[in-house]
Amino acid sequence: MQRPKGTIDIYGEYYKKLNYIKRIFDDLCDEYNIGYIETPIFESSEVFHRGVGEGTDIVTKETYDFKDRGDRDITLRPEGTAGIVRSVLENKMYTTLPLKLCYFGKMYRYERPQSGRLREFYQAGVEIFGDNSPLMDVNAISFMVKFYERIGLKGIKVKINSIGKAEDRNNYMAALREYFKPYIDDLCEDCKARYEKNTLRILDCKTDADKDCIKNAPKIGEYLSEESKEYLNKVLDGLKSLGIEYVIDDTLVRGLDYYNDTVFEVVFNESSALGGGGRYDTLTSTLGGPELPAVGFAIGVNRVIQILDEEDIKVIDDGSIDAYILPVSENENNYAIELMSSLRDNAFKVDMDFTGKKMPAKFKEADRYNAKFVIIIGEDEVKSNKLTVRDNLTKEETKIERDNLIDFLDVNI
Ligand code: HAM
Repeated sequence: MQRPKGTIDIYGEYYKKLNYIKRIFDDLCDEYNIGYIETPIFESSEVFHRGVGEGTDIVTKETYDFKDRGDRDITLRPEGTAGIVRSVLENKMYTTLPLKLCYFGKMYRYERPQSGRLREFYQAGVEIFGDNSPLMDVNAISFMVKFYERIGLKGIKVKINSIGKAEDRNNYMAALREYFKPYIDDLCEDCKARYEKNTLRILDCKTDADKDCIKNAPKIGEYLSEESKEYLNKVLDGLKSLGIEYVIDDTLVRGLDYYNDTVFEVVFNESSALGGGGRYDTLTSTLGGPELPAVGFAIGVNRVIQILDEEDIKVIDDGSIDAYILPVSENENNYAIELMSSLRDNAFKVDMDFTGKKMPAKFKEADRYNAKFVIIIGEDEVKSNKLTVRDNLTKEETKIERDNLIDFLDVNI
């Protein structure tokens, strides 16, 4: 038996990295005053189909749609935003605004499995409702930039663009249809369908991306209203005042239908995006609620881990434990387990063997766990309450009174 294509088993080093990323993300959410939300992994299909957009690649090709046993149309979440909007509306969370929410969880897209593209993957995201200031967009982008900095990733690039309001986009799409008319036969089958249904999506086609007719297509910037241009300039001014470097990418339109005005992505070495987001002021009304301005983003956690590996960036949590307790014989086991418990109460990471391994095997185990200290407990130690503490790197041994052990570890770890 094998796991399904495009999925991974998470354990060992990978789990540590995932956890490390989650801790950095959670800390930033606290610092940015953002509360946590967890919505179901599956929702009624219409939440994502309507939310993300019927004409998008995600909905036409990538959603996991199925009927449940009650004959309901269900979709595994391909992203977090639409489900969170459903929850904000259903629970009437919008009575006190602004509302700032974050999430960390698994998403599902039936994509062709390849490097950086999984069918089950983690996103860490933020959604902020009820604030239409360009500075809130800046706030969101600054969170992402700080996140990658804290992870230790240097050299990320923030790409930003404006896709204007619905009216600007309709004018733009009319221009795109005119432009692509002579090239229809050169486009892939999907793009031929997009030409009719959602012309904008031709621009983020993965098959046709390198074709000249796509590269030379008119840019949305030419179709923006004065209001949207001014909004973008205010966002750029805010980024400048924070010293955040960016590039304006006039080809960036994003693959989800709900955006307006600001859209952004973070890339590393021109590889696929490590995260992306934007403003979406009409999604709450698309999903049947009052119109609420909103901005958010999601970080692709698995892609971040992949880059950490490729760049050989070590996470700070090296997975070591503080001490490995080594009773010499079974007679000292109860003393050892009680000592382990009291060290854990003092927030030390400690472990010991219960299976009666021989001494050499126990020392090996201490190495396998990267223990900083090995605490050896024999008959004499129990009688005298003086423990033999061995520095597992230098192999230097010290006798420490049991009552002084915590102070000793505090000073030396
Ligand atoms: P997205 O650009 O579709 O946006 O996804 C965000 C990030 O998730 C991507 O930049 C990428 O790093 C990661 N990602 C996407 N698909 C995969 C995959 N198949 N395998 C691994 N990683 C993947 C959204 O999902 C929006 N909901 C973001 C947002 C929040 N906009 C406003 N609020």
